[in-house]
Amino acid sequence: MGKDVIIACDFASAQATYDFLDKFTGRKPYVKIGMELFYAEGPAIVREIKARGHKIFLDLKLHDIPNTVRKSMAVLSHLDVDMCNLHAGGTIAMMEAALEGLTRPDGTRPLLIAVTQLTSTSEERMKEDLLINEPIDRVVMHYAANAKKAGLDGVVCSPLEAGKVHDVCGKNFLTVTPGVRFAGGDVGDQSRITTPEGAKAIGSDYIVVGRPITAAADPVAAYERCVAEFVD
Ligand code: C5P
Repeated sequence: MGKDVIIACDFASAQATYDFLDKFTGRKPYVKIGMELFYAEGPAIVREIKARGHKIFLDLKLHDIPNTVRKSMAVLSHLDVDMCNLHAGGTIAMMEAALEGLTRPDGTRPLLIAVTQLTSTSEERMKEDLLINEPIDRVVMHYAANAKKAGLDGVVCSPLEAGKVHDVCGKNFLTVTPGVRFAGGDVGDQSRITTPEGAKAIGSDYIVVGRPITAAADPVAAYERCVAEFVD
């Protein structure tokens, strides 16, 4: 499976997103559409970006009863996205139902990856709020193993966890990793970070990069730099 750079299009409106994507006149980047943009603009934005020739990771992190997730995933699959995701915390049964819903009549389907524990959840909050009394690393690897058991393609994780996920779940199990910054660049609110080159060395399959590209003076050059460091 080819490595790729996914741009997190965390814009508040369709117009801002199109203005950004219009800058890319050569290679069409793989883009991530998150909840904010999807809830503001609806499925139309997915269709439009797809029609412009981009691959799409629809980052909606589903988590509900298996029947609801199965039916919702069928809707996303018909939107022709390339990758979507859910919370592994919804159980193996929910993840299996999601895969069923996602699979098109011809047997094809988008990639499906799981969020393990959100990186915003600390071990302390996990213990006190969620009553999970295991080290967070162990919980993340257990959720990743559950995702694999359910037949999913991979997990979203920190690039620093990607090597361990591959050790536990095998090298073909995908790691999709945000938390990427250029050497010497602005870190912003991310804490467990690495560079595109570092993510490549650790074995990430896809890096998800937002502000280092979207807020750059020259976003196309920043994207090409990511590709040069991570893919080429
Ligand atoms: O701008 P930045 O490069 O930090 O964007 C990273 C993207 O990845 C954002 O869309 C953010 O919501 C997402 N993400 C993350 N950490 C996670 C899961 C998703 O940064 N654990």
